[in-house]
Amino acid sequence: MILAKQQPVPIGVFDSGFGGLHILSALRDLLPAADLVYFGDSARSPYGPRPSSEIKRFSVEIARYLVREWGIAMLVVGCNTASAAALETLKEELEIPVIGVIEAGARAARLASPTGKVGVIGTVGTIAAGAYQRLLGDLELVCQACPGVVEFVERGECDSEQLDILLERLLEPIRIEAPEALLLGCTHYPYVAKAISKAVGESVLLISGAEETAFEVRGYELANRSHGGETIFLCTGDPECFVRVGARLYGSGLKSVRVVDLAELEGE
Ligand code: DGL
Repeated sequence: MILAKQQPVPIGVFDSGFGGLHILSALRDLLPAADLVYFGDSARSPYGPRPSSEIKRFSVEIARYLVREWGIAMLVVGCNTASAAALETLKEELEIPVIGVIEAGARAARLASPTGKVGVIGTVGTIAAGAYQRLLGDLELVCQACPGVVEFVERGECDSEQLDILLERLLEPIRIEAPEALLLGCTHYPYVAKAISKAVGESVLLISGAEETAFEVRGYELANRSHGGETIFLCTGDPECFVRVGARLYGSGLKSVRVVDLAELEGE
């Protein structure tokens, strides 16, 4: 279904799985009338440990699919790992606005820390890509990759002893450095914010770039053009699991999902 230009146009949001739902919530709050299409690449999650060339390929496949099949007029990359690996490529490939989460996250971090001591946590891919380090290089930065945390969220395990043990170990350097603010540089992490706070200490302010991202999207005239307020969910993995876990994270607005066959994405 390709919508004609003068018709209401949906905004596409994608992530490796559930993390982008956090961005979707912020968009929904700010743009209640917007038509949104959410794509969770759950069959290929997590993206964090994958090489950036592969993440780039996945991102382009998803973007092309959303333009072709859903006529999206704007793409929001609701994933730090994909933003770090593929944002530039997506901007070159697509003729629609493409918005990532990293610049918005960096803006939020800057606003949250007047003294300039900031922590950033993310996937191995995001931290290794150095995107936050480049944007916030003038601040006193403490960066830490957190391998394995996304998998807990994908299972819907947001509050468990195993998660606490993993976070305590991974976030020890952040706890010692005690930054004023800690940017959750992976869209999955807000769903385990309670456990992260426990690990780094409650005096550290936890921030995400979701609201900043949504404000950026609202700044585009075309983001205000649709009026149905509809949200469509798509995933590449098990639909039953997507709805069960996704509804716990996103809320009752996630009632059903359509499965997209990987062959449909890869077949171009
Ligand atoms: N939500 C993605 C991010 O913001 C998680 C990546 C993953 O699947 O590892 O980086």
